[in-house]
Amino acid sequence: MRRKTVGVAARFMKNKRSREWFQAPDYYGFGRRAWLRSEGFPADVFDGKPVIGICNSWSELNNCNAHLRTVAEAVKRGVWAAGGVPLEFPTISLGEMFMRPTTMMYRNLMAMDVEECIRANPLDAVVLLCGCDKTTPAQLMGAASADIPAIMVPGGPMLAGEWRGQRLGSGTDGKKLFDQYRTGRLTDDEWCEIEGCIARTAGHCTVMGTASTMTSLAEALGMTLPGSANIPAPDSRRMAIAELSGRAVVGMIEQELKPSRILTRAAFENAITVLMALGGSTNAVIHLIAIAGRLGIRLTLDDFDRISRRTPCIVDVKPSGQFLMEDLFHAGGVPAVMNRIQDLLDGSCETVNGKTIGDNISAASPGNETVIRPRDRALNPEGGIAVLLGNLAPNGAVIKQTAASPDLLRHRGRAYVFETRDEMLAKIDRDDLPVNRDTVLVMRNCGPKGAPGFPEWGHIPMPRKLLNEGVTDMVRISDARMSGTSYGTVILHVAPESAIGGPLSLVQTGDEILLDVPDRKLELLVDAVELARRAAQFTPPAPHYQRGYGRLFLDHVTQADLGCDFDFLSPDYLP
Ligand code: FES
Repeated sequence: MRRKTVGVAARFMKNKRSREWFQAPDYYGFGRRAWLRSEGFPADVFDGKPVIGICNSWSELNNCNAHLRTVAEAVKRGVWAAGGVPLEFPTISLGEMFMRPTTMMYRNLMAMDVEECIRANPLDAVVLLCGCDKTTPAQLMGAASADIPAIMVPGGPMLAGEWRGQRLGSGTDGKKLFDQYRTGRLTDDEWCEIEGCIARTAGHCTVMGTASTMTSLAEALGMTLPGSANIPAPDSRRMAIAELSGRAVVGMIEQELKPSRILTRAAFENAITVLMALGGSTNAVIHLIAIAGRLGIRLTLDDFDRISRRTPCIVDVKPSGQFLMEDLFHAGGVPAVMNRIQDLLDGSCETVNGKTIGDNISAASPGNETVIRPRDRALNPEGGIAVLLGNLAPNGAVIKQTAASPDLLRHRGRAYVFETRDEMLAKIDRDDLPVNRDTVLVMRNCGPKGAPGFPEWGHIPMPRKLLNEGVTDMVRISDARMSGTSYGTVILHVAPESAIGGPLSLVQTGDEILLDVPDRKLELLVDAVELARRAAQFTPPAPHYQRGYGRLFLDHVTQADLGCDFDFLSPDYLP
């Protein structure tokens, strides 16, 4: 005889998918119970307790997420304490430093893995464990499409690196030091020492790169407990909030608190506002468009630019500023940032703890006004990201204006064109490269289809001959992305991309280009008749894949302004 559903478990009978698996009266109901008991569970796990999936992107191929199995243990404590049954499961993970050609190529694959694992299994709710750049948007995309109650627990940033008295932010400082190394100002031994201390703990990169940005935006969207995103990975409070998240997710089932209730247009506008206040990664533009797209919400580049113009950048963290994520955490983290700009936010949005975002941030004033600045001492009166339009980017391009050189934000210069990244790498350090500080470097075939996979190649290194002359920045344009940890006057995501015949494919060395960030313009100063003549001669490069996932990617990935999701994953897809 089956036990009766009694006590605390009876509360959870409402809205439980897992009941269909474990309480079915047929042979398969018996089989599912028996097979789960083979993991050592007693019979009362089937007494109506909710089953909570712990979707874990742990992998030894992803150092940033390498501690997430420990975090999962803390989540499990919370789930058991609240009367649920936690079951941890793996998905593919996306380690930014290791994967080729780029993790971006696999973000949609991971999102499908997350979605289908949730959909196919006896789960009533899910806890999403993420960290490294693409793991956060991939989990949010998958969870949004599966649409059962979901809470996110980011793994948190690494502790700051330190070398010979200098604090090092992974990514940003690594790239600056590499410029010193390749111009002979650091020795091999010094470079090896830096290698050992720049990334000294588990966790994601320590600057406001894509990982820090996306986990912070998950919190701004209402998908984490307040204060969750910025706790450093090794800090004991990381485990405490993981346990609290495990408790909270059980309560979300009764409330039917699904992603579709939390991830509203107003919540996305809040997230864009926080992105601008943080000086966050340009990659967030693509990811937020893609996550929203899973819920049928169409975010446009205009939304980003409109919100950027009204939102000051107030967070002084690298690469836009000088501090690291650890400092932002001690200053109060995302709740304190949101508190400072609360008049720009919609406080009525629901969050995973059942309260509104306004309730969650109302008492969270910043504890350090150097890291989270008052609005009258903002780093920049506008947000970190500006959207550019013009005949060189009819569907838009982006620039992280807070990480660019102010004297280059209005610039006119002659193009020097690299056909591919390989060509750029072969030539960039040549002493006879015909460029000067006013040259505009252009690199093509680096977009979603052209690279393939839309890699972070947009931060074209400074030519060595200019570095040796003391020039540290110049205008660089491509259809690639850029690591959120990078800096410089770098224009990215030019759409449509060159490989499908976008205007970037028409630029020739010597053409004049106009950049005007305050007026949001990116123009190729070549007359329309000449551009039409060049367009008529365009032939697309051969596709990189004929089969497998690569082929699926090339056939279905959308352009940067549409979020680079697969077209068939949109809820209103019609073949
Ligand atoms: Fe994983 Fe930077 S490499 S967050």
